Amino acid sequence: MTQRKYDIAVIPGDGTGPEVVAEGLKALGALSKKIGFKLAFHNYDLGAEQYKKTGETLPDTVFESIRTRDAIYLGAIGDPGVAPGILEKGILLRLRFELDQYINLRPVRLYPGVHTPIKDKRPEDIDFVVIRENTEGLYAGAGGILRRGTAHEVAVQESISTRKGVERCVRYAFETCRGRNRKKLTLCGKTNVLTYTFDLWERAFKEVAEQYPDIETNYVHVDALCMWMIKNPEWFDVIVTENMFGDIITDLGAMIQGGMGVAAGANINPEGISMFEPIGGSAPKYAGQNIINPIGAISAVQLMLETLGETEAAHLLETAVMKVLKDDLKGVGAGEMGYSTSEVGDLIVEFIESASTKQGETEQ
Ligand code: IPM
Ligand code: MN
Repeated sequence: MTQRKYDIAVIPGDGTGPEVVAEGLKALGALSKKIGFKLAFHNYDLGAEQYKKTGETLPDTVFESIRTRDAIYLGAIGDPGVAPGILEKGILLRLRFELDQYINLRPVRLYPGVHTPIKDKRPEDIDFVVIRENTEGLYAGAGGILRRGTAHEVAVQESISTRKGVERCVRYAFETCRGRNRKKLTLCGKTNVLTYTFDLWERAFKEVAEQYPDIETNYVHVDALCMWMIKNPEWFDVIVTENMFGDIITDLGAMIQGGMGVAAGANINPEGISMFEPIGGSAPKYAGQNIINPIGAISAVQLMLETLGETEAAHLLETAVMKVLKDDLKGVGAGEMGYSTSEVGDLIVEFIESASTKQGETEQ
């Protein structure tokens, strides 16, 4: 049997990115030994520091190198010392767009032992996945500004939805839903106001739905969805939506699953190279203190393993995360864990090393 080997592009990035990525890589290393696959990490120094030094966010040669890898592991991009949008557009969005990572998959799951700010909701009530379209909408960057800085200035920012882009996203959501127990898919939009965008979305959704008679479907306006996510999160199984709405509702989702420190996301190109990241951002005020929660970054590794087809490793990692959250951590906020960032990573690694797995038993 040939040995599985993965080349991973690692972009630690800004703020707390490098600290949490280090813990994710530790977990990944332990899993590769335990399960028996090989890894090579390729580090790319991108982010604020590099930009300030060179004036470039993502040189083409670096981009060309990244795209030859099997997966990308990203910490965080964004820095208060750089104007908003430069690093985000130049690095994160460029990778998403040019690698055509058209799915942004964000699980919203409350693990046992984690505090949710929603009163009386338990882990079984908060367990859904948001499928956010990741290459179009307002993020496409269509528009411009006229007569800037004058009394007559005009800013236009248009939302782009293509039939192909919407349909492939919707189809992916149906497929994801089919793999889950409840098989309920919610389309989140704003058909009462954005009558062009969501006319297209709704027609694509209904047409694709005909091929998935086993899946229950419904439609919810985005504003109402924010309300129901808090009041009745148990209603949701898979939610599919456009880019901007998905951005907003997944921050809300992160809060109800315990906070930014535990939320993870996958930027997926099902036919190409995908990128995995914690969704907490660069959190500059916590940078360099070894107090940020690395669980979101570690769960991003789980999403990476699932996408690479390493399901046993992914499952073991999720078990480790659940154990550490339930039995070890005092809280999930930065500085509230009862452990430092690197100690949390150590706890995960200890669990992995001590677990008995089929592979581990036969390997010796
Ligand atoms: C996210 C982030 C990004 C986005 C920013 C940093 C460009 O908020 O991944 O959700 O808006 O998509
Ligand atoms: Mn966001």
